[in-house]
Amino acid sequence: MNKIVEESGDQKILIVDDTPANIDVLDLFLEKEGYKISIAQSGESALDLAARISPDLILLDVMMPGIDGFETCLSLKSSEKTKDIPIIFITARNEPADIVKGFSVGGVDYITKPFSQEEVCARIYLHLKLKTLMADLEAKNKKLAELNDLKNKFLGMASHDLRNPISTIQGFSKIMLDHGDTLAEVDKREFLQSIHKVSNDMLTLLGDLLNISTIESGNLDLQIQPDSLVKLVEERVRMYQVMAERKNIATHLDIEEIADFSFDANRISQVIDNLLSNAIKFSPPGKDIYIWLGKNKGQAKFSVRDQGPGISPEDQDKLFKHFQKLKARPTADESSHGLGLAIAKKMVEAHEGKITVESHSGSGATFSFEIPLDR
Ligand SMILES: Nc1ncnc2c1ncn2[C@@H]1O[C@H](COP(=O)(O)OP(=O)(O)OP(=O)(O)O)[C@@H](O)[C@H]1O
Ligand SMILES: [Mg+2]
Repeated sequence: MNKIVEESGDQKILIVDDTPANIDVLDLFLEKEGYKISIAQSGESALDLAARISPDLILLDVMMPGIDGFETCLSLKSSEKTKDIPIIFITARNEPADIVKGFSVGGVDYITKPFSQEEVCARIYLHLKLKTLMADLEAKNKKLAELNDLKNKFLGMASHDLRNPISTIQGFSKIMLDHGDTLAEVDKREFLQSIHKVSNDMLTLLGDLLNISTIESGNLDLQIQPDSLVKLVEERVRMYQVMAERKNIATHLDIEEIADFSFDANRISQVIDNLLSNAIKFSPPGKDIYIWLGKNKGQAKFSVRDQGPGISPEDQDKLFKHFQKLKARPTADESSHGLGLAIAKKMVEAHEGKITVESHSGSGATFSFEIPLDR
């Protein structure tokens, strides 16, 4: 088998010619080369067939009763469905004016009869290859344009979110510089506390932006090793209990025993942190939060149920995308950049798991993730 046959695999070629003898010659040797052949005996049926079967390439005769090859080519090029199919004219008309016309109506090549079979094969191979390369290039360009849009959006949102804390630091440090001597100790302390808090927020935001940049560039490497999800959940809940108590929110923990299994403890810790911090951040003071860890159909499942404002169905569609600050706003001036769930989703998916939400507006939300126990 030669190279062309190996690569022709499932590729479909539509032969358009009104003379059965011409069709037979092409059909025979192209089928031997491994192409799937379809046949149309007029321009009209070629238009119909091309739209239905989307061939990878069309070999088109020029002189045919009804609409001729040039007109057929023009029609194919003007239809969204068929405009990208490469068309090679294959005809006895060999005047330079005909050849030029063939290219001007959208043909990619022009072969005159009598032709050599090797030459036809080489040209078909070349144009199919070009088509594949073009499609690859277009897909890559599209991806690049998407990434560029995302990058611009990030820059815009990040600078917006950094402006407030920087203004706070600038304002308070200026007051301390200008009036440090006369300020009461308690005020100085309050200003320093504010500066400290917003610097922490900025560090978190920068960390999240780095996370997203790592994820989007496809460089998220998991450090998978056996670890205890039970211990991790207990530790993270203890950390967040302090934050919850400040808002008079009670946390209830229900943990089923799970033997150590393989996962990336740092990444999963980030996911747990975001779900816990969200439940506390968006709940009004005095509510309860229920945390559950257990096993479910070969997966470890973690969920957090809160009694906060819940999430409407429209907002649920946006939740896991970047920079989504939705209807629920923090109830005690906590920071909110709308990045946590987008990052959490990617981290869980990198573990071949899934993250979900169940909620009705006004009646709390339950966020859960599952990751396989047997990676
Ligand atoms: N438990 C919840 N109850 C109600 N709304 C929620 C809850 N969790 C998230 N949301 C909504 O979804 C949005 C996105 O959440 P996400 O965790 O991605 O960002 P964030 O918490 O605002 O900021 P951060 O980047 O610090 O995590 C939130 O701004 C909030 O409006
Ligand atoms: Mg969050």
